[in-house]
Amino acid sequence: MDIKNNVLETIGNTPLIRLNKITKDIPAQVLAKVDYFNPGNSIKDRMALKMIEVAEREGKLKPGGTIIECTSGNTGMGLVLAATVKGYKCIFTTTYKQSKEKADILRAVGAEVIVCPTNVAPDDPRSYYAVATRLAREIPNAFHTNQYDNLANRLAHYESTGPELWNQTDGKITHLVCPAGTGGTITGTSMFLKQKNPNIQVWAIDAFGSLLTHYFNTGLMDMTKVHPYMSEGFGEDFVPQNFDMSYIDHFEQVTDKDGAIMARRIAKEEGLFCGYSAGSCLQGLLQLGERLKAEDMVVCIFHDHGSRYVGKIYNDNWMIEQGFLSK
Ligand SMILES: Cc1ncc(COP(=O)(O)O)c(C=O)c1O
Repeated sequence: MDIKNNVLETIGNTPLIRLNKITKDIPAQVLAKVDYFNPGNSIKDRMALKMIEVAEREGKLKPGGTIIECTSGNTGMGLVLAATVKGYKCIFTTTYKQSKEKADILRAVGAEVIVCPTNVAPDDPRSYYAVATRLAREIPNAFHTNQYDNLANRLAHYESTGPELWNQTDGKITHLVCPAGTGGTITGTSMFLKQKNPNIQVWAIDAFGSLLTHYFNTGLMDMTKVHPYMSEGFGEDFVPQNFDMSYIDHFEQVTDKDGAIMARRIAKEEGLFCGYSAGSCLQGLLQLGERLKAEDMVVCIFHDHGSRYVGKIYNDNWMIEQGFLSK
């Protein structure tokens, strides 16, 4: 018999799938780690469960407690699945920029979701960071998981995503390409892979309007580089503690339009219905294609599923409104 005791046992061990069409002009083999196969349809299930397990172990999360997080949706989904199995309540703060579907799905699985303004500084009391911090202070027996600075985030990828990629490629992976937001996926996975083979190149994918690329290149927190953008789930206007830039070799920025168009191509040409950041990830790789050789084996991380973006990048009207498609 092969029976899982609960849904949490289905997290991880996602497939690595060869891309056959879009990347045909790139000399290297290009593989996608398709993490929408997780039960919450994103890679963030991995770190959500790990943050809860570590908090339980450290006594920060007690029976019947409330989990507070600021999340664009995917981390919230992972947290609420784990919370449901383990008996915790969830309150999430998010922003108006995020797909409405994401908040609706979180509510459907039992979370309370508070939507906050997008274009305010992280330290503004109305920001989704500040509201989450305040709620964690005010609500008794609450724990703010804080995916940005909680190092259990990158630990999850050090313990699962990294070893999976190493085993699935039989140690032959030469490049990791990964959209970066909290930095947990890229840093944790890279820590494991570079420990195995320090020559593996790790390329972060970033949005124009994010602080991260400029910070990586110069070490400066230049807020003049920061402006609103449409891409979802990656890029930041500060540098979360889950980043360790010494494990990253390059940052590549992708426009909102190019990422959206590429996500639609991945669905139509590869049969993989992925989220926005997967499009940006593959687009970023194509921008860097000249750096690759025939013997290279590249892994792109596809974080989440396309169903969360049907009102946006998979909606022609939305694409036209953004100027990403012509009528
Ligand atoms: C769709 C999507 N892509 C990319 C990322 C970035 O991953 P990380 O926060 O591990 O850097 C996230 C994080 O929430 C995400 O939801």
